[in-house]
Amino acid sequence: MADSSARKRIAIIPGDGIGIDVTAEASKLLHHLAATRRLPLELVTFDWGADQYLREGVSLPAGALEMLRRDFHAIFVGALGDPRVPSNQHAADILLGIRFGLDLYVNQRPVKLLDARLCPLKSRVERDVNFVIFRENTEGLYAGVGGNFKRDTPDEIAVQEDVNTRKGVERILVYAFEYTRVRGLKKLCMSDKSNALPFGHGLWRRAFQEVRQRYPDVESSHLYIDTLAMEMVRDPGQFEVIVTSNMFGDIISDLGAQLQGGLGVAPSANIHPGAVSMFETVHGSAPKLAGKNLANPMAAFLTVGMMLDYLGWAGESTRIENAVRDAIRQNKTTPDLGGSLGTREVGEWIVEELSH
Ligand code: IPM
Ligand code: MN
Repeated sequence: MADSSARKRIAIIPGDGIGIDVTAEASKLLHHLAATRRLPLELVTFDWGADQYLREGVSLPAGALEMLRRDFHAIFVGALGDPRVPSNQHAADILLGIRFGLDLYVNQRPVKLLDARLCPLKSRVERDVNFVIFRENTEGLYAGVGGNFKRDTPDEIAVQEDVNTRKGVERILVYAFEYTRVRGLKKLCMSDKSNALPFGHGLWRRAFQEVRQRYPDVESSHLYIDTLAMEMVRDPGQFEVIVTSNMFGDIISDLGAQLQGGLGVAPSANIHPGAVSMFETVHGSAPKLAGKNLANPMAAFLTVGMMLDYLGWAGESTRIENAVRDAIRQNKTTPDLGGSLGTREVGEWIVEELSH
């Protein structure tokens, strides 16, 4: 969307399960900031999710991508997934549909320990766990290229291709290097499995060799993905920026989420620089917790922070993060973090904290 007006239009997709619970809190936070911090926000909610899919057979409605591109600056997503749709086809259609359809090639997943008590590793403090994962978000094993031959017979063959394009790999590498430089960071680690996947990941290796020459100020290194997983647990403090492929990024971002206290505190952004981008919690819809006032709204709040940062309000993002940190310190948390408050109570506490 052209940036002619200062007003920022945000599409809100609560989705399914606890996505609906945490998005209710995120919306309250956004309304509060709009009112008290004079942020010119306009929120529009879309009830895309399992209910609509079961009712009308529609996941991502026709024309949705064009509308999002034309009318919105950002998209906030709670979570998608519902046991009544065993294939979770609607979730893939909506989430992957938006990621691919809007070409959101950067999946940014920060791993930041907000309170030492939340880290499952022994004697780690906040500065030991503070890095960002950049996951390629539009190709790789997620490209949907493949098929089944002789399906449902004993001779079935299933092929799922790993699609790596030179342009696709280069642009995520460049984004990660630029981020490192612009944020005044020093270290970037690229991870792949080029020892076993010489064609696809050989391309990653070659592109990396070339791109890193343009960033002599950045200390860049390479680790195979298995070694990276091990090192993330052994000594997470060595990392500042990690960049990797779609599937590997999916896996290590869950590992990273645990290092910072679990999925209840893990935010993410799906970005196409300069265009409408999508912000979502890393956690799923947790159907068993849904509607019980049990879900942790902090991941959604931190996700709102990432969105406001993207929209040009970095200060608001910092304020939200500080309020979440205060809530954790003062045990104003849901049961996943050892507290006894509900989703709404944690949300209210943080919004109240932001009023001062
Ligand atoms: C994530 C999720 C998705 C992914 C699923 C729901 C398709 O695990 O956002 O990390 O694999 O990207
Ligand atoms: Mn995942």
